[in-house]
Amino acid sequence: MGFFHTSFFYRPVTRKPLQHQMQEETSSNTLTRHFVLDSPPFVLETSPSAPVLLCHRSGIIPISQKVKFLNNTTMELKGKTVLVTGGTAGIGLEATKQFLANGARVIITGRNQAKLDAVKKSYPSITAIQSDVADADDAKSLFDQVKALGGIDILYNNAGVMSGPLNLGVANEKHFEVAKYEMDINYLGVIRLNNLFMEMLKSRKEAAIINTTSLLSYVPLNLAPTYSASKAAMRFYTAALRDHLEILNSKVKVFELSPPVVATSMTESLENNAITPEKLVNALIAGIKKNQFTIRVGLSKVVYMLSRLAPKFAYAQVNPAGNTKLLR
Ligand SMILES: NC(=O)c1ccc[n+]([C@@H]2O[C@H](COP(=O)([O-])OP(=O)(O)OC[C@H]3O[C@@H](n4cnc5c(N)ncnc54)[C@H](OP(=O)(O)O)[C@@H]3O)[C@@H](O)[C@H]2O)c1
Repeated sequence: MGFFHTSFFYRPVTRKPLQHQMQEETSSNTLTRHFVLDSPPFVLETSPSAPVLLCHRSGIIPISQKVKFLNNTTMELKGKTVLVTGGTAGIGLEATKQFLANGARVIITGRNQAKLDAVKKSYPSITAIQSDVADADDAKSLFDQVKALGGIDILYNNAGVMSGPLNLGVANEKHFEVAKYEMDINYLGVIRLNNLFMEMLKSRKEAAIINTTSLLSYVPLNLAPTYSASKAAMRFYTAALRDHLEILNSKVKVFELSPPVVATSMTESLENNAITPEKLVNALIAGIKKNQFTIRVGLSKVVYMLSRLAPKFAYAQVNPAGNTKLLR
């Protein structure tokens, strides 16, 4: 085969600095090099003569090496129960279809009862619960109802809102109103639900939280500044949540879905190169199945890299000159 297969074992992520860890691994005089990239431990399968390129969390991919995830803990969706917030439209509705197709049970939420009824009519096996993620009483009631149904294994925090163009340079009371509305749903609502469901998820054999960020968490869209800020906050929160659960040796996995522009009602008014919700959710499901904890899809990958290498250029790409007209 040309490659030596050495021991495949799961080694928990160490808390040591990566530099230290790399030195230790390379001096061990074995053909196995294992290290941390984003989160799952990797094993490099390598021939004795091939150069080994070790890489850092930020993601230089080794060349001419076969890299394998240690997949022994990858998630089986069949038989799981998934709670999809905002499951009545767009990405959440598509996720509902695909989780069902993968053999999962699905509970959806949304604020609008008529939309919930319509989805229930199309997918009779789902449970549809009216609940606003920004409302504390609704969230508690949702938790109680879900618990009575037997609980969940996966909490998919999908519900989100984006408000229209705002020019923060022109004083307007709307700035605060919009920022609060977006933060209450996109950020604080997620923290509230994760907190409510945390111990339930920890008690399951396999469990996951999926948080939704955006390519706008790397570079703000000047037409949606407070929305972008809510997604940047969600990205930082998600990284910390994952770290904290790892420190506790918890089995609860934390995925971040970072979509590009997706063709849903949220993006109708934007000029964009939107992908379909189907394509996005295909990537989400594939990511979950291979323990890819940060799932950047399509242009989100590009904007992520550009934002690190050439931030001003990235800003200009996300905010073309035409946006200026809408901000005057
Ligand atoms: N579309 C994109 O290009 C894009 C890109 C990056 C990230 N995202 C993120 O992906 C997620 C889904 O977006 P989408 O494009 O699918 O949006 P969408 O088509 O507008 O659907 C949003 C869903 O969330 C529900 N929802 C909104 N506010 C809610 C609340 N307070 N409580 C419960 N449910 C609520 C909506 O139903 P009700 O209105 O009836 O409550 C609807 O079911 C969002 O987090 C969004 O920020 C989207």
